Amino acid sequence: MKKRVFSGIKPSGDIHLGNYLGAIRNWVTAQEEHDSIYCIVDLHSITVAQDPKELKRNIRELTAIYFAAGIDEKKSTVFVQSHVSAHSELAWILNCFIPMGWMERMTQFKDKAQKNKKRVSVGLFDYPALMAADILLYDTDYVPVGEDQKQHVELTRDTAELMNSRFGKDLFKVPTPVIPKTGARIMGLDDPLKKMAKSDDKPNRSVYLLDSPDTIRKKIMRATTDSLTEIRFDKERHGVNNLLTIYQLCSGKTAKEIEAHFAGKQYSDLKRELAEVVVEELRPVQQKAKDLLNHPDHLESLLKTGAEKAEEIAQATLKRVQERIGLG
Ligand code: TYM
Repeated sequence: MKKRVFSGIKPSGDIHLGNYLGAIRNWVTAQEEHDSIYCIVDLHSITVAQDPKELKRNIRELTAIYFAAGIDEKKSTVFVQSHVSAHSELAWILNCFIPMGWMERMTQFKDKAQKNKKRVSVGLFDYPALMAADILLYDTDYVPVGEDQKQHVELTRDTAELMNSRFGKDLFKVPTPVIPKTGARIMGLDDPLKKMAKSDDKPNRSVYLLDSPDTIRKKIMRATTDSLTEIRFDKERHGVNNLLTIYQLCSGKTAKEIEAHFAGKQYSDLKRELAEVVVEELRPVQQKAKDLLNHPDHLESLLKTGAEKAEEIAQATLKRVQERIGLG
């Protein structure tokens, strides 16, 4: 039996290089070996304010990006979270068991609530229960995510163990987070102490996947570095380290090869070369995504098939849980 992989991205704004290098690219590799399910988690998007038309557009754009980046509908299941109602139903059940104290420890909630004081909804607080439902519905073995999602996957594990101890060991499979060694936390270009993010009001923070080559070049040339000159991997030099990490992931070269290549060169050389490897990495993805977006019926039919496949697995798990806890 193949191991199962599940992961997802929120369609809450423009998808960036961090999402791509920290998550999507690793999913493409995972589908070769594992039974893979990738979700467009739109129900998570409404935990913060969203414009309805934009949300709908972002869902299609993210779907196109998944396929354009190499997710293959023959190898993986791709679907929209709200198309499979079992996600909301299991989330409610989990809500009734997850202790408040576990949720209160979630650092992402604290950060987001801080930024969004006027609109902190119950849904934002409860976000990790829905994420746990996403993962547990599919008897998931591995959850490939960036570093910022590790705490949520750990809460999912704790939830599975809690429920299993009450309702039987085989109720839920306990999933394992898979965090990449390189690229788990791509930092902002303008401020390398903050992570690259989707919905930031800082236009030079993130390279978005569908940015034009010229925009990518401009953003990278403006990236914050430091007042030193030597180009080498050093975690204490956040800006340069981040640029070198992106270079490493896009060029496929080793750290040693990269340091030797840039020995004696200047930051402007690093930025110029980095911009070109990023542009070349994204060029085919952008082209395929545009093609797919020009064929909306085809995209819809891919999503319909994905939802049907997901629904079958999700309903079986939901039924098992309902029976075990005495509902109905
Ligand atoms: P989201 O949409 O914020 O991010 C999607 C994926 O991209 C990773 N990521 C990054 N990786 C490296 N550097 C960065 N700067 C960076 N920013 C984001 C994230 O870690 C994530 O892997 N809650 C999730 C979505 C979700 C989910 C799930 C994930 C909902 N249900 C079930 C896995 C399994 C989220 O908001 O990701």
